[in-house]
Amino acid sequence: MRILVINSKGGSGKTTFALNVAVPFLWRKSSKTVNYIDVDVANKEALNVESSLINPHVIKPEELKSFRIPKNSVIDVGGNINALQTLDILDKTEKLRRIDLVAIPLAKGEQDAYNAVEIYQTLRNRYAYKGKIAFILSQVVDTENYEREFFEFFGFSSLYKGVIKSIDKNDRNIFIVPYSNEIRRVKSIFGKLPYEFYTENKNRMEELVGKLEEIEDKLDEFEETSEISDEEIQKLKDRYEILTDIIFATKMLESFFGFIKKQYSALE
Ligand SMILES: Nc1ncnc2c1ncn2[C@@H]1O[C@H](COP(=O)(O)OP(=O)(O)O)[C@@H](O)[C@H]1O
Ligand SMILES: [Mg+2]
Repeated sequence: MRILVINSKGGSGKTTFALNVAVPFLWRKSSKTVNYIDVDVANKEALNVESSLINPHVIKPEELKSFRIPKNSVIDVGGNINALQTLDILDKTEKLRRIDLVAIPLAKGEQDAYNAVEIYQTLRNRYAYKGKIAFILSQVVDTENYEREFFEFFGFSSLYKGVIKSIDKNDRNIFIVPYSNEIRRVKSIFGKLPYEFYTENKNRMEELVGKLEEIEDKLDEFEETSEISDEEIQKLKDRYEILTDIIFATKMLESFFGFIKKQYSALE
């Protein structure tokens, strides 16, 4: 499967969706390394992520013409690149036909809602794109009331028309990406793809908790006997803090990826 992640605006959640949703989705589906194709001139996202799940490629927009997109790919089109121009290149080089899913992430606000619909209409009307299209709601705080958060997209009662009116009913595939501090933290602090961090630590949760208990027991013991240097106590406390953080982040990510997984059918 080839997934194209595109929107004309930076900061709409493209990279977040690409790395935390599209890559895990294809990885689970294929059990193969996913080609993460970062089409960008500014950020080198693909290069600062360490992961055995992805095979990163960083290409410039003009290189897209001659680049053959492998089968198991997520293409993340950078924000400073003109999205419509990119679609034009993909169409004129007959690559658009091979894209199975176009994911259009949008952040809250009027501009993002309009941009999303513009890309949608360009795909269906100008290029007669036949594949699937999904609208990705980025950074949703209240997942129960996402329509309220994205009222510019969905509209509000009869008072305010949302842009969704101009989207064909069959194309109203909505995917919710909840706001998560942990996906940002894990990537920055541990330098790992959050999904990989989560699966690895979930599988060794018992071991992690065991280690934590060991340190707790030691600290309890030393507090009474004080036969240990302050330095060593500090070391144990630091280790305790890191372990607690790993356990906490893993559990937070468990609910994030659990929620993501339930929506996979919107991407199929
Ligand atoms: N679901 C989310 N939860 C928390 N932070 C998010 C989420 N989605 C995006 N962000 C943050 O918002 C910023 C822009 O997101 P990003 O995915 O890089 O957008 P784009 O690739 O479209 O420029 C980043 O700092 C990112 O960490
Ligand atoms: Mg990006």
